[in-house]
Amino acid sequence: MATYCEFVMFILFYGFILPTWVVGKPQVPCYFIFGDSLVDNGNNNRLVTFAKAIYLPHGIDFSSGSSGRFCNVRNFADFMAEYLGFTSPIPPFAFSNGSNILLGLNYKSAAAGIRHETGRHLGDRITFDQQLQNHKLTVLSIRDVLGGPESTSTYLQKCFYHIGFGSNDYLYNYFITSVYDTSSRFTVEEFTKLLIQQYRSQILELYNYGARKVALNGLGPVGCTPYEMSRYSSNKTCVEHINTAVKLFNHYLKLLVDELNNNTSLQNAKFIYLNFYDMSMEVIQQPSSSGFRVVNSACCGMGLNNGALTCLPFEVPCLDRNKYFFWDAYHSTEAANKIASRRTYQALNESDVYPLDIYHLVQL
Ligand SMILES: *[C@@H]1O[C@H](CO)[C@@H](O)[C@H](O)[C@H]1NC(C)=O
Ligand SMILES: *[C@@H]1O[C@H](CO)[C@@H](O)[C@H](O)[C@H]1NC(C)=O
Ligand SMILES: *[C@@H]1O[C@H](CO)[C@@H](O)[C@H](O)[C@H]1NC(C)=O
Ligand SMILES: *[C@@H]1O[C@H](CO)[C@@H](O)[C@H](O)[C@H]1NC(C)=O
Ligand SMILES: *[C@@H]1O[C@H](CO)[C@@H](O)[C@H](O)[C@H]1NC(C)=O
Repeated sequence: MATYCEFVMFILFYGFILPTWVVGKPQVPCYFIFGDSLVDNGNNNRLVTFAKAIYLPHGIDFSSGSSGRFCNVRNFADFMAEYLGFTSPIPPFAFSNGSNILLGLNYKSAAAGIRHETGRHLGDRITFDQQLQNHKLTVLSIRDVLGGPESTSTYLQKCFYHIGFGSNDYLYNYFITSVYDTSSRFTVEEFTKLLIQQYRSQILELYNYGARKVALNGLGPVGCTPYEMSRYSSNKTCVEHINTAVKLFNHYLKLLVDELNNNTSLQNAKFIYLNFYDMSMEVIQQPSSSGFRVVNSACCGMGLNNGALTCLPFEVPCLDRNKYFFWDAYHSTEAANKIASRRTYQALNESDVYPLDIYHLVQL
């Protein structure tokens, strides 16, 4: 059994069993990405904000240096683009120029949330509503290129849409009581239901712009990030009340996935849920069995667990980056991103995705 597990991990890490996607054209004509910094790759570079990653050590393991990603190298979307057969990463909306929009765009923005005010104390960010407006512009441009609404919807319905919001609505809103009043106005349950209600209408708006194959991120264990541990947990254990809140969000998000998939007026659409919570907890609770050594402190940053401040410009990060789960106070390393992207693309455990993995979603 041990040998089998090691073998599986070996495949996971090194991708030795490569299905046919390595040759030929991508499995989908385009890939659109919406969300927060967990996959931001540069949309914040030109904004006035503290939530930026255009300086080293971010991107330290890229041959060309920092790229705006909050990671040492590749993030989730970079891996997913590879698995889907794209030859290069999906470009950020902020730097798109018309010639590349047909392959998809990345609208993600650090500090952004489902709610408008989320992340406000960090400066400018592109909220989900604004990302949807940017997407609307993209769809209009695609219509110009393809010559009409019908050919555009035929084209877009084959594309893959990946959405990841919610973490910041807790991290940079509900649990920052000195800046936001949401926790005095709502219980966690009420706040979570409001988030899901707003998320539902935003997702339906995306459906109206042509999205039919949609993956939604379940939230990771936000209470285990070095940031939250530096605020609440001197004994380096995950912060339970924060994890309880994000688990509640995940519970309602999964119900939303059922509801959307059951809705007969959403024709030809399929929504899936990606279980980042349990996949991350598996590593955090048993780091060595997936090749990690440090899961309760960030590879770079300052303060308790390197979690009080994110990586400082030109700070020297940890050297054995493959052994760290967290890159900075909030974001995972490439090593962790590789596992999460691999297991949501092709599920390893049936709890990794619901009800389908990305590989099967894009074949529909
Ligand atoms: C448009 O973007 C692509 C890919 O990012 C780049 O290769 C190309 O040079 C750009 N074209 C112009 C006209 O800026
Ligand atoms: C860690 O600290 C938290 C809160 O301070 C406490 O609830 C928890 O029981 C502690 N865990 C351990 C293992 O000591
Ligand atoms: C959706 O349909 C499935 C079976 O098709 C059912 O088990 C589930 O309860 C339904 N969920 C909702 C939220 O309607
Ligand atoms: C089903 O989808 C439509 C949009 O096409 C939406 O207006 C309606 O509220 C949805 N119904 C449910 C039960 O979610
Ligand atoms: C699948 O994942 C669940 C949730 O993390 C875990 O409880 C279960 O042990 C896993 N099963 C296997 C076979 O790894």
